[in-house]
Amino acid sequence: MLTVLASKWLTSKWTKAVLFSLCLGPLAAIIWPFLRGYTIPNPLEFIQHATGDWTLRFLVITLTVTPLRQLLHLPELIRFRRMLGLFAFFYACLHFTTYLVFDKLFDAHEIWKDIYKRPFITVGFLAFTLLIPLAITSTAGWIRRLGGRRWRILHRAIYISAVCGVIHYYWLVKSAVIRPLTYAAIVGLLLAWRVGEWFLRRRRTALGNAAPQQTPIKVSQ
Ligand code: HEM
Repeated sequence: MLTVLASKWLTSKWTKAVLFSLCLGPLAAIIWPFLRGYTIPNPLEFIQHATGDWTLRFLVITLTVTPLRQLLHLPELIRFRRMLGLFAFFYACLHFTTYLVFDKLFDAHEIWKDIYKRPFITVGFLAFTLLIPLAITSTAGWIRRLGGRRWRILHRAIYISAVCGVIHYYWLVKSAVIRPLTYAAIVGLLLAWRVGEWFLRRRRTALGNAAPQQTPIKVSQ
């Protein structure tokens, strides 16, 4: 009964609109103090941290969709995965733009020096660049063009991006490692789930192939 209700709610056209508005909430929370003229001691740090946090949160939320679909028997949840992934990319773009515009003032030489010399920037940059092809190929047209199998393989890069995001966070904090370690545990668990699922699927296929073929019985007349 509960599953039926949930699946009805999840397939409603309004649910997507509600989720879209909710995903814009963090952006509103970032802009609001500026609009209200509140005193923010370090505005650059405030924006950089908030956008970084939300990029990682959206990456983790996106990765949770598949296990949740399977655990709750709600295949309809897939409708929201693309939107959540694109929001991860959106906040990553804001995060990178803040760095590019306000931190480095478009100085390409400084940026390359940072990427080359500061490991936490190198790995953050890798996490970000990995998301670009995923955002571009997130449309139905690209799924058709690449073919389902190749598209799925490409989109596994979101796991690498999330792992790089966690390392980026871990390397930049000096002592408060609890939060990055919590993210590491969650991403590790989600990765383990997918690997376990892949092994189970392979085993089932192997068992299916090994099962004796049924030979048709000849009926003599
Ligand atoms: C998917 C990609 C990325 C993720 C998930 C991510 C995540 C984060 C997180 C969680 C934080 C810390 C927020 C906090 O302390 O509350 C952070 C900070 C930061 N990130 Fe990223 N980031 C990404 C990409 C990048 C890129 C591409 C750059 C620049 C090239 C970058 C530069 C920074 C900087 C400069 C800080 C602040 C460091 C400080 O306060 O000392 N990040 N990021």
